[in-house]
Amino acid sequence: MPIQTTEKIWRNGNLIAWDQANIHVMSHVIHYGSSVFEGVRCYGQPQGSAVFRLPEHMQRLLDSAKIYRMEIPFTLEELCAGVVETIEANGVAPCYIRPIALRGYGEIGVNPKGSPVDVYIANFPWGKYLAGHGGADVCISSWNRLAPNTMPALAKAGANYMNSQLIKMEAEANGYQEGIALDVNGLVSEGSGENVFVVRNGVLFTPPLGNSALSGITRDSVLTIARHIGFTVTEQAIPRELLYIADEVFFTGTAAEVQGIRSIDRIVIGDGKPGEITKKISDEFFGIANGLKPDKFGWLTPVKVDASEPVTA
Ligand SMILES: Cc1ncc(COP(=O)(O)O)c(C=O)c1O
Repeated sequence: MPIQTTEKIWRNGNLIAWDQANIHVMSHVIHYGSSVFEGVRCYGQPQGSAVFRLPEHMQRLLDSAKIYRMEIPFTLEELCAGVVETIEANGVAPCYIRPIALRGYGEIGVNPKGSPVDVYIANFPWGKYLAGHGGADVCISSWNRLAPNTMPALAKAGANYMNSQLIKMEAEANGYQEGIALDVNGLVSEGSGENVFVVRNGVLFTPPLGNSALSGITRDSVLTIARHIGFTVTEQAIPRELLYIADEVFFTGTAAEVQGIRSIDRIVIGDGKPGEITKKISDEFFGIANGLKPDKFGWLTPVKVDASEPVTA
């Protein structure tokens, strides 16, 4: 789906016109993938709108930048304020927010240090990322996730998404909606843009970060919600075949939110219907995000935009 444009984009502390947020073809990021970014959602609520886990997302942006020795000339507070300013200037909610820090126009060599760091924040309407209520049909990808000590999986870097693109394109070419990748040792890692949870005999499992998974903010939200409800949750290595014999499997991610999976490699998961535990967790997640349940974990940052205007995705 083409991006629905908005009016303004935040660039290095100032709002500029959407059409003017351009970079030169010789920018370092174009050639070497030198960017780190975030994906954040702002939800519509009965009393306006709110960004979900904004400080956690912006802290991860700073962490990703730190791994790549990229100096961001803004504090966590300034970045959070930039997101709020952008959403309020555009008056668009609910929306998806894309902050990105990139190595701009400077030198052409691999060493990025001679190229400036530019920070942008855009927001735009974006609806459901994966299949709706029945659950997604997914496959195990023939592509592995990034090996440890190659591309750092904890950094949400643009370059990592070349691997994600291979996973996603292969899955769709073979008639699936998404692929789950294994790590280099053949253990479950994550989807092209989502973390994975497995439910078996009432216990939840998700791969630990050491299996080349991104430290998902939604993953953390689900771990918190599940423990709060009273479920046992373990972060442990998951062999591929545990997915096939699970009672429930679901994805988590800012784009995918909490998304049930109904088949993997055409093997039906459980009875092929949305599972009870997935449902309980997703009800709580959407209840908080949509302002219909108390924000008991302090996850929402209000923005002054009436959620009814002007567009929903
Ligand atoms: C590779 C990958 N894993 C997991 C996630 C989920 O992370 P989050 O819940 O923070 O969006 C994402 C999305 O950002 C991702 O791209």
